[in-house]
Amino acid sequence: MKLMVLHGGAGRWESKELDKALSVLRRAAEIGFKTLSNGGSALDAVVEAVSFMEYSGVLNAGRGSCRDLAGGVSLDAGVMWMGRAGAVAHVKATWNAVKLARIVMEGTPHVLLAGDGADELARKKGLPPLEVVTGEVNSDTVGAVALDENGRLASAVSTGGIRGKMPGRVGDSPIPGAGFWTSRLVASCSTGYGEAIIMAQPCRLTSILYEEKGLPLSKALINACEAVKAPCGLIALTINGEAAASTIADFMPIAIARERDIKMLVVKRGEALEL
Ligand code: GLY
Repeated sequence: MKLMVLHGGAGRWESKELDKALSVLRRAAEIGFKTLSNGGSALDAVVEAVSFMEYSGVLNAGRGSCRDLAGGVSLDAGVMWMGRAGAVAHVKATWNAVKLARIVMEGTPHVLLAGDGADELARKKGLPPLEVVTGEVNSDTVGAVALDENGRLASAVSTGGIRGKMPGRVGDSPIPGAGFWTSRLVASCSTGYGEAIIMAQPCRLTSILYEEKGLPLSKALINACEAVKAPCGLIALTINGEAAASTIADFMPIAIARERDIKMLVVKRGEALEL
């Protein structure tokens, strides 16, 4: 079974911005699902889909990233699959932070690389330079989870962080368990207020609630969101093909890609949907 869920960030979306986000998400879902259909892995699919969202300039990641207090831009991203994770923080050398996170996972002995060292690796690997197209996006982190034909799960996230952050600030997105997590049975990723998400670890919590406590996936997600106690959204996918989304922020645009179709939805505050 092949399946993907993507989100474009939880937050206070204006309706015009939401329309643009949904069209980027649809295209990202097409790209990710095509990757799966062409024999790509769940990891390939999430990295391709998130790379497109980073490139779009419409969402708060990559070229669309928000600015910090000094007018600068710095990116965080993470990926996880098959018991391994890779992440980057405070990246300034490339818009393609999710690809850099994959390089950290596959090509270095580390899990998290930050600042100058991450930038140097991006340049060495020839990743495209960072040009910011807006810096004004109101939304949060983007993310994707996928299940491939071989029953493997992957999760990926990317973000410009929060608007008006202090230069040097790093959020939840590159922290395994907080911004993303892929366990044996569940892949999930989060979006929302990073400081609270780091402390609550909602992605790790989702796996615990589903795998160890036996909660239905949507119930596990809303409980994990509520543990954050600040604007937050989560998407998740299980090895059995169950998919769910939940948010306690105003809106979270999502796409669900299956063999038969791509479905677009806007999840609203307090909802916990089986998809
Ligand atoms: N969730 C993104 C951040 O707080 O950096």
